[in-house]
Amino acid sequence: MMTLMTDPGQSIYLDNAATTPIDPLVSDAIQAAGKEYYGNASSLHSVGAQAHEVLEQSRERLASLLGAMPSEIVFTGSGTESNNLALKGVAFANAHRGRHIIVSAIEHDCILRAARWLERQGFFVTYLPVDNEGLIEMSSLEKAMTDKTILVSMMHVNNEIGTIEPVEEIGKLCRKRNVYFHSDACQSFGKIPLNVDKMQAGLLTVNAHKLHGPKGVGALYIRSGVAVEPLLHGGGQEKGIRSSTENIPGIIGFVKAAEIACSQMESEMRRVTELREQIISRLYQEIEGVYLNGSRTYRIPHNINFCIEGMEGEGIRLQLLLDDAGVCVSTGSACSSNDGGNPSHVLQAIGLDPFQARGGIRLSLGRFTTRKQVDDFLTIITEKVKQLNPIF
Ligand SMILES: Cc1ncc(COP(=O)(O)O)c(C=O)c1O
Repeated sequence: MMTLMTDPGQSIYLDNAATTPIDPLVSDAIQAAGKEYYGNASSLHSVGAQAHEVLEQSRERLASLLGAMPSEIVFTGSGTESNNLALKGVAFANAHRGRHIIVSAIEHDCILRAARWLERQGFFVTYLPVDNEGLIEMSSLEKAMTDKTILVSMMHVNNEIGTIEPVEEIGKLCRKRNVYFHSDACQSFGKIPLNVDKMQAGLLTVNAHKLHGPKGVGALYIRSGVAVEPLLHGGGQEKGIRSSTENIPGIIGFVKAAEIACSQMESEMRRVTELREQIISRLYQEIEGVYLNGSRTYRIPHNINFCIEGMEGEGIRLQLLLDDAGVCVSTGSACSSNDGGNPSHVLQAIGLDPFQARGGIRLSLGRFTTRKQVDDFLTIITEKVKQLNPIF
């Protein structure tokens, strides 16, 4: 049986890359929409027509935030689903052109596992290494492309180390080589500027729960003309690409959350960068042996990932000690806790050994992270680190 250690309302929640608390304005909008727009958007009567109208308005609003056309937005049930649809859908619809796909070695598990599954279906996948900051090297990407390459999938921002990938350059190269470019933007949408045209993306994944929206709602941008084979067959919703009755309240909540996030993006980027810099400099000052994982320059404001030299084996214990004190963070082995706590593939890809890669502590900030919480966190972690024992 689960016991709740601390009241979530009282927590210092620094795990916003895992998920975010829902914005009260968004939950109000979802509740109201559940009552008002209960119709099936495919029904022909007036209740259905109202649901359909609000669905199409939501599509337009999301499209305008991404720089897309409304007809290029497909609503899905999650970021995982959008990523699976992008990879498998493009692979199967374009297999006649070639069977080679390139993904980065630091993609989210839903991309990596979809890619491995595609290998079992007869596709060939290159898992492109990254440098020690987590950045894709354009020359290696160019070398990896062949005339059989149909798709490159590279995330915009990495969920563990916050590295911002050179997506515009990747998009340009893909366009030049006539290869589809898909980007997983779950960690960047609403946090840093994003535009499908600037990125020259053919496909782009976004979801709601990383930007203070509801869980279980996502979207896939599919540029007009890009061939995608559906994964779900049924009533033909979402232009036949994603059958299933649309989750209207969830979609309304997603769009509301995205609009709030995008409208506050500039000031939030400044505010959160200040908090991040305060945390990094205090960690360096107060804790001996701290080293930062990821890029100092190409980093989303919201992410800090660090290890403590000699204490890497104590990562999970530090997480538990912090949790006892009401602070929620992630570790390099729990980012994917369904994996049974394997060391982070991302930290290993940037050169950490498996032992070090278990010891990464990820702090991810959000719109509701306050300066007071950051100050309290810094006091708590400085105390808790004293209880750790070096394990080699
Ligand atoms: C980069 C990235 N892609 C995809 C996902 C999966 O999104 P969802 O939880 O909506 O399936 C996540 C969330 O964990 C993520 O961080």
